[in-house]
Amino acid sequence: MIRSRIIATGAYVPPKVLTNFDLEKMVETSDEWIVSRSGIRERHIVEKEVATSDLGTEAAKRALEMAGLSAEDLDFIIVGTNSPDMSFPCTGCFIQAKIGAKKAAAFDISAGCTSFIHTLSLADKFIKEDPRRKVMVLGAEIMSKITDWTDRGTCVLFGDGAGALILTGEEGDRGILSTHLHSDGALWELLYMPGGGSANPSSHETVEKRMHCIKMAGNQLFKVAVRALADVSAEALKFNGLTSEDIDLMIPHQANMRIIEAAAKMINFPMEKVFIDIDKYGNTSSATIPIALDEVNRAGRFKGGEKILLCSFGTGVTWGSAVIQW
Ligand code: ACO
Repeated sequence: MIRSRIIATGAYVPPKVLTNFDLEKMVETSDEWIVSRSGIRERHIVEKEVATSDLGTEAAKRALEMAGLSAEDLDFIIVGTNSPDMSFPCTGCFIQAKIGAKKAAAFDISAGCTSFIHTLSLADKFIKEDPRRKVMVLGAEIMSKITDWTDRGTCVLFGDGAGALILTGEEGDRGILSTHLHSDGALWELLYMPGGGSANPSSHETVEKRMHCIKMAGNQLFKVAVRALADVSAEALKFNGLTSEDIDLMIPHQANMRIIEAAAKMINFPMEKVFIDIDKYGNTSSATIPIALDEVNRAGRFKGGEKILLCSFGTGVTWGSAVIQW
């Protein structure tokens, strides 16, 4: 059987670090509150002139280098992002131009933090159509530029970064085993950014009311997120005829340590097999999973054949999972 196999990973976070102690000087909060409620200790933040495609470009270059491919070998560039360079053109086109991937078709997916699972799902379909294809998928975000730095309920949570994978078709057992995607648009008000689109075009008023920033009902979203991660993980295991014992590593979306712990508990998944790096990066939205995959891959933790469960949720509300055999 032909499967879509990940042949390379890359990630990039900007060098500037913003710690919880820095945030203590900006809003009424404390390192103790942030660590105990979210698990986050620090996050990386871009300088003013950096755009999302710049982070994506760095991650893309690192993945290409690992694959030993040139940008011109790529057939698709699919970017999951909620913080694009501009409303249009898509961030994928900017990355395409910056790396010189002349042959590729580039586009973005906007499905909240779950977007990266969508990029994997689409890559799998493109590769099943033609296994020779080389597909690059990315999650790239600059959350710091859509964060309300006066709102302590959100500004402590997010960070900037990008991750990239390259996939191609290969005969055998290794590759994507399944993807599952879900959404419930009735819950959109749990997390949104009202300003700048056709509903509320940019104006003095939208700026004054901070409508170009994240609005979040954190407490309500928390409960939805736990249920979504647990359900979609259970769905993925059942679909593949697996139990938590068969999974070598779970990489959940890194939004909140307590969400991850509660979801794992709900499906009896041991925390020793759950990957966590939220302490270092915060919530980089659709970039959390590809950054984590790159970190684990470069640390040499995968030998080949490991089963990895990816699960995510995000604004929309959306949620999804993927099971990969490395
Ligand atoms: N520092 C200190 N106190 C704070 C802070 C802060 N940074 N933020 C909120 N508080 C206060 C609140 O004002 C509240 O005070 P009150 O009781 O006097 O009213 C108190 O802390 C408790 O607030 P809650 O909102 O109930 O705190 P909770 O334990 O729910 O944690 C959090 C808040 C961390 C936001 C949590 O609800 C959460 O993680 N929700 C999900 C968020 C999420 O995952 N978002 C992104 C998902 S999609 C994506 O990734 C883009």
